[in-house]
Amino acid sequence: MISEPKEKIRVGEEIFTPLLSEEQIQSRIAELGAQLTIDYQGTVPVFIGVLNGSFLFMSDLIKCVELDCEIDFFKLSSYGDEKLSAGKVRMLKELNCDVNNRDIIIVEDIVDSGLSVKYIEDLFAEKNPKSMKVVSLLVKPKSLKYNVKIDYIGFDIPSEFVIGYGLDYAQKYRNLRSVYILSEESE
Ligand code: IMP
Ligand code: MG
Repeated sequence: MISEPKEKIRVGEEIFTPLLSEEQIQSRIAELGAQLTIDYQGTVPVFIGVLNGSFLFMSDLIKCVELDCEIDFFKLSSYGDEKLSAGKVRMLKELNCDVNNRDIIIVEDIVDSGLSVKYIEDLFAEKNPKSMKVVSLLVKPKSLKYNVKIDYIGFDIPSEFVIGYGLDYAQKYRNLRSVYILSEESE
């Protein structure tokens, strides 16, 4: 079932408008999955999702990957309940699997400053994976402050706050099928 995006979403005084429809998201994920299927042929990669934001992306992405693969999650916090990054990352739930000598693919919802990805790269480098790549559904290229390489990108987006498709604002709106962006217009 493909649903049309709502025209706008009001959160208090703020208005969010559609940025990426469910159809755009799903068709880009199919392309990413096809590329990963080619690039990881002959391997059994471990997809490692960063909770909570990546849960929908992970679930749709691995359905488009035609490979034997494993899945795990860990949880980081950097934003708290606000729109601004706290500037530091905390580990809230550890990974369970052993990544030593494995091909790992970090699955992120969105890369903003790059701080989380930097933290993740440093963390996993110590665990001696065979290879490590990062896939992120969304990247805000103009917000990047850390030197990180995102190997697979769904969409480059403007440096505004977005919600939906896993992304929250104070823990809500993760269940929207489309992505919405904070709009200039306010009422
Ligand atoms: P970074 O560490 O600054 O790159 O921020 C990464 C994390 O902040 C993401 O994994 C999200 O959880 C959160 N985040 C960044 N931008 C947004 C946004 O526009 N909406 C919701 N969450 C965001
Ligand atoms: Mg995240």
